[in-house]
Amino acid sequence: MAYDHHTPHTEPGPGGGPAAPGTGAPHARQGEPGSGAGHGGPGPGTAEAGHGSPHDGHGHARHPHGTDVDWAAMAEQLETQAELYTPLYERALAWIGKEVTEPGLIVDAGSGPGVISCLFADAFPGARVVAVDGSGELLERARSRAERLGVADRFGTLTGELPQALDDLEYPADLLWASRSLHHLGDQQAALSAFADRLAPDGTLALMEGGLPMRWLPRDIGIGRPGLQARLDVLEEEWFTRMRTELPGSVDVTEDWPALLTAAGLKHTRTRSFLLDLPAPAPDRARAVVAARLGRLREIVGDGLDAEDRATVDRLLDPQDPASVHRRPDLFVLTAHTVHTAVKPH
Ligand SMILES: C[S@@+](CC[C@H](N)C(=O)[O-])C[C@H]1O[C@@H](n2cnc3c(N)ncnc32)[C@H](O)[C@@H]1O
Repeated sequence: MAYDHHTPHTEPGPGGGPAAPGTGAPHARQGEPGSGAGHGGPGPGTAEAGHGSPHDGHGHARHPHGTDVDWAAMAEQLETQAELYTPLYERALAWIGKEVTEPGLIVDAGSGPGVISCLFADAFPGARVVAVDGSGELLERARSRAERLGVADRFGTLTGELPQALDDLEYPADLLWASRSLHHLGDQQAALSAFADRLAPDGTLALMEGGLPMRWLPRDIGIGRPGLQARLDVLEEEWFTRMRTELPGSVDVTEDWPALLTAAGLKHTRTRSFLLDLPAPAPDRARAVVAARLGRLREIVGDGLDAEDRATVDRLLDPQDPASVHRRPDLFVLTAHTVHTAVKPH
């Protein structure tokens, strides 16, 4: 496992308070260059959507049935989607900030390209942020982003498989955030316990899991059979179940997140959902995210659609077609993400 560039160089503040810039030791051990596990090269299968409901594909073992995810290839999609969702994340972070006032170290477990990690750096100017992910390529993007935003001096990355990679953190986290990454790990309860182990006393674990699938078109869109998105949801749920089953070390668990947090030894669970509501006509950046998402859905579940629905999806994706998501005036983006938090007792 490699602790990457921009090793943080501050001690956590006393009592878990803000870090003092420019002093002290890193929050993660320096590893052998290139020893990070990463995700290997592109898998043979297709990737999935990376949207707000828990259907983002995982990213490790290569499966013949197309549930493997090439995370590096999804970099652009993950980044543009997270940028579009920024107002939602900002509200979620503000909600967390009411309880977690002065974290010294924030860890973003399964950070992807680091859009949210950088929002944390912005929302908590006294904190160091370490983005942890299996994909070195995505963390490279996270570092570039931190540099662009002027927070690189208190931003670090750690490449490796979760949850084991967290063992390389030198300091316990005051806040550990995991958005849509836990469901890519085979044993979610064991991973939550490992996350909880890496928390400082009174530290907070914040999970973003569940919510509502993204909606972007009315039920009847004037072409094809009404209800296309609901049918895509059903196919995606089945894909997601397959994906989880095929994860290495997959363990079935009831996805009662507060109960799982409690079973990990944490207390004071809280849950809240945050809405993203971009009414029609949606801006071009929303259209791009919807087109990427629908393209991904066509790849992973398109075979399960009937011929009429497949033809509708093709029209929706054709930039030349006035009925496409690129051009139609009724396109919107509406979704909700749920955050669950819990605190480590003394
Ligand atoms: C759906 S993305 C979420 C990214 C980001 N947290 C967000 O909400 O936009 C899932 C992330 O988890 C990472 N990931 C998946 N399985 C992993 C594993 N076993 N170890 C480390 N990272 C993993 C992927 O590389 C990817 O960046």
